Amino acid sequence: MPSSIGLSASSPEPAPNVIFEHQDFDGHEQVVFCSDPSVGLSAIIAIHSTALGPAAGGCRMQPYATEADALRDVLRLSQGMSYKNALADLPLGGGKCVIIADPSRPDKDVLLRSFGRHVQALAGRYWTAIDVGVGPADADVLAETCDYTFARASQYEPGFNPSAFTALGGLNGIRAVMAHTRGSDDLSGVRVAIQGLGATGSRLAGHLHEAGAELIVADIDEAAVADAVAAFGAKAAAPNVIHAQDVDVFAPCAMGAVLNDQTISELQATAVCGLANNQLAEPRHGAALRDRGIAYVPDFVVNAGGVMGAATVIYGPPSREASLTKIDGLYDTIRSILQTARDESRPSSDVADEMALAKINAVADNEATR
Ligand code: NAI
Repeated sequence: MPSSIGLSASSPEPAPNVIFEHQDFDGHEQVVFCSDPSVGLSAIIAIHSTALGPAAGGCRMQPYATEADALRDVLRLSQGMSYKNALADLPLGGGKCVIIADPSRPDKDVLLRSFGRHVQALAGRYWTAIDVGVGPADADVLAETCDYTFARASQYEPGFNPSAFTALGGLNGIRAVMAHTRGSDDLSGVRVAIQGLGATGSRLAGHLHEAGAELIVADIDEAAVADAVAAFGAKAAAPNVIHAQDVDVFAPCAMGAVLNDQTISELQATAVCGLANNQLAEPRHGAALRDRGIAYVPDFVVNAGGVMGAATVIYGPPSREASLTKIDGLYDTIRSILQTARDESRPSSDVADEMALAKINAVADNEATR
């Protein structure tokens, strides 16, 4: 049984991959461990909530050092999807999956097809899509065995990547936070440090450059940095100091937990607004940012553009115009969260969590009384 993994009658402390006592377990409806030894598949699907609709969220493929790391990631990411989809007013719950594997392995397609069968078996309770290590072309491979796949390359014109929706949301977020901290959303001359130049970060860099911002960039992939330097006149910084640059905005667009005790104390930016999921290492880091007077745009709010743009196929006919209008709406949502946080001296992350939870609980309470 998945729930008994790591449990031992004699252990005084729960093992790190125990489910119900796990520090990141948040009443998740379902956690499914998927295995196919014939192809070397190890994966975990976490369905956090289906209160608002089928759980939707991407599939991450990463060579996690331990199963416990993968579990922690999927528990946190799926909860984030519930909050993201709720606050975005989408008729969707939250879920996510992680495949424990190196995305560059040559038999990636075999793994994806095998994993697709596990998602298919959930019969639509969970819809999967792209995330780190799984791109739109991979989503088409998943779709060979799984009807519940969105953000597929074949759903768009050639060359379009749905991460473009996410990047547009990021641009709106940075405009909104600049309006909040500086009184103007004109980005000319605004200095932004971008961590991660992948599908989202590179596109965000393009939008910011067009809007006149000055960029400092970092990535562990040197070619991605060289491209941004050439295309956008960006300055390059080492990945381990990108957060500490003398800029207006720090934009994390790589992995999670980048806002922690150490990095927060080293930030020079007056605002943090980026597209990575789970930027706060722990919830208390939202308060740490507030205490330093740094305006933080909650990650799950600003990076909702991707799901706003790509997930429409789950519940209705896709409309690029409707998606873009919704993504534009992020500007006002973010301004309102930041204003409430300022007025009430609260961490913006708490304000956003509370707004999302209220939407989920309103429906869940209704169901419970039926
Ligand atoms: P990606 O895999 O295309 O890009 C990530 C980039 O970060 C890569 O270029 C990688 O080399 C770089 N990177 C990794 N570790 C780094 C480090 N320590 N320092 C600097 N750079 C580093 O991923 P993508 O799609 O751009 O996603 C980035 C983040 O945004 C993830 O947290 C993802 O969950 C989140 N996100 C992505 C969405 C999308 O539409 N793609 C939607 C919502 C959230």
